[in-house]
Amino acid sequence: MKSSVLKILSILTAILFLDPITALEFPPELINALFPDLTNTANATQSTPPPAAPPLPSSPARALFVIGDSSVDCGTNNYLGTFARADRPPYGRDFDTHLPTGRFCNGRIPVDYIALRLGLPFVPSYLGQTGSVEDMKRGVNYASAGAGIIFSSGSELGQHISLTQQIQQVMDTFQQFILSMGEDSARDLIAKSIFYISIGSNDYIHYYLLNASNVQSLYLPWSFNQFLAETMKQQIQNLYNANVRNVVVMGLAPLGCAPYYLWLYESENGKCIEMINNMIIEFNFAMRSLVEELNRNLLEANVIFCDAFEGSMDIIKNHERYGFNVTSDACCGLGEYGGWIMCISSEMACVNASNHLWWDQFHPTEAVNKILAENVWSGLHTNMCYPMNLQDMLARI
Ligand SMILES: *[C@@H]1O[C@H](CO)[C@@H](O)[C@H](O)[C@H]1NC(C)=O
Ligand SMILES: *[C@@H]1O[C@H](CO)[C@@H](O)[C@H](O)[C@H]1NC(C)=O
Ligand SMILES: *[C@@H]1O[C@H](CO)[C@@H](O)[C@H](O)[C@H]1NC(C)=O
Ligand SMILES: *[C@@H]1O[C@H](CO)[C@@H](O)[C@H](O)[C@H]1NC(C)=O
Repeated sequence: MKSSVLKILSILTAILFLDPITALEFPPELINALFPDLTNTANATQSTPPPAAPPLPSSPARALFVIGDSSVDCGTNNYLGTFARADRPPYGRDFDTHLPTGRFCNGRIPVDYIALRLGLPFVPSYLGQTGSVEDMKRGVNYASAGAGIIFSSGSELGQHISLTQQIQQVMDTFQQFILSMGEDSARDLIAKSIFYISIGSNDYIHYYLLNASNVQSLYLPWSFNQFLAETMKQQIQNLYNANVRNVVVMGLAPLGCAPYYLWLYESENGKCIEMINNMIIEFNFAMRSLVEELNRNLLEANVIFCDAFEGSMDIIKNHERYGFNVTSDACCGLGEYGGWIMCISSEMACVNASNHLWWDQFHPTEAVNKILAENVWSGLHTNMCYPMNLQDMLARI
C-alpha cells in the first residue's frame, strides 16, 4: 500500500511541474527520476511469442501484415526511445500470457482476433522478431504507437515509426521474401496476404488538435482530411505496385469520447466532444471515398474500409446489451474520467476491465476490440465495412 501511495504522490508532484495540456509530454529525464521502474523493463516486457492460434478451417490468406499506430502496435515501441510504451503492468494483464507485450490494452488488440479468424498465429512485431523469412512469412506487424500519417505527428512523445517509414519496412520485408523464395513465390505470397492499416488518430491527437505548426490556421479540418487521404492513397498505391492486393483500411474511433478529451474539455456526464467527433466523421468519410476510388482505379485490388466510428457508437448506444456499464471512465488512469494522467501503474487500474469501454486515456478495452474485430470479420454485431467485410473479401482471394 505504501508504495502505491508513494507512486500516486510522485505522479501528483509531476503534475505540479506541468500544465495539464502537456501532461502527455513528460521529458524523459523526469520520467526516469520519478519512475525508475519504467526504464527497467527486463522483467516487465514479455518477449516470448504468444501461443499460436488453434488450427481453423483452411484460410486462403497466407499472412497478415499490420501497419498503424497504438491501436494495433504489438511491441514495436518496446524497442524505441519513447514515452509511448505499453511494456509495463497493468498493460497486458488480461492478455493470453497475462504479461505486458507492448499492446496498448488490457488484453488483445483487434488484429489478434483477426489473425485467429484467418487461421494465423498472432503476428509478431517487426522489431521484435529475428528478421528471418521463416518468422515473417505468416505476417509482420509494423505498427508503432504515436505514429501518424504525417511524418512529424506524435514526435513530441519521442521516437516512433511513421506511416512512410513503416511502408519502407514493408518493402524491405518484400525484398527479403524475393531473395529467399524467388520473385514468383514472393509475389504470390504478397498477393494472397491481408494488409491491415489502422492509423490517423495521432494526426489529430498530436498534430491538428495541438495546433502544431499553426496547422489550424493553415488548414480547415476538411482540407486537413484531404491532405491525410491523399498521403494514404499514395501509400496504398505504392503497396499495390509491390503486388499487394487485399487491404483493410480502418477508420478512426470516436476520439471525442475518449477519456482524455472528456477530461480536457470538461465534459458533463461523459458527453462526447462533438467538435472532435465531427472531425473524425469527416476523416472517415474521406477514407471511405478514397477506398471507393482505389477500387475503381486499381483493377486487381480488394480494398475495404471499416468504420470504427460507427461500430464504436453502436457499442456506446447499446452498451447495456453488450455488457458494459462504464462508458466514459478509463479503467486505468487518474483524474476526471481517468483521463488526466496516463496509465502508468497497476494501482491506477480498475479491478475488472471487461465492463469498461475504455482501458486508458485513448485506448479501448479488449472487450471492445473483440466486438470491433468481429464486425470487421463478418459484421456480426453491426455492418461497418464497405463495400464488404473481411470474410467476403477473403472469398475473392
Ligand atoms: C525480476 O523479478 C524478480 C522477482 O520477481 C527479481 O528477483 C529480479 O531482481 C527482477 N529482475 C529485474 C532485472 O528487475
Ligand atoms: C493556432 O496557432 C496559431 C499560432 O501559433 C494561432 O495564431 C491560431 O489562433 C491558433 N489556432 C487556434 C484555433 O487555436
Ligand atoms: C458495473 O457493474 C459491476 C458489476 O457487474 C458493479 O460492481 C459496478 O459497480 C458497476 N459500475 C457502475 C459504474 O455502475
Ligand atoms: C468481470 O465482469 C464481467 C462482466 O460484468 C463478468 O462476467 C466477470 O465475471 C467479471 N470478472 C471478474 C474477475 O470479476
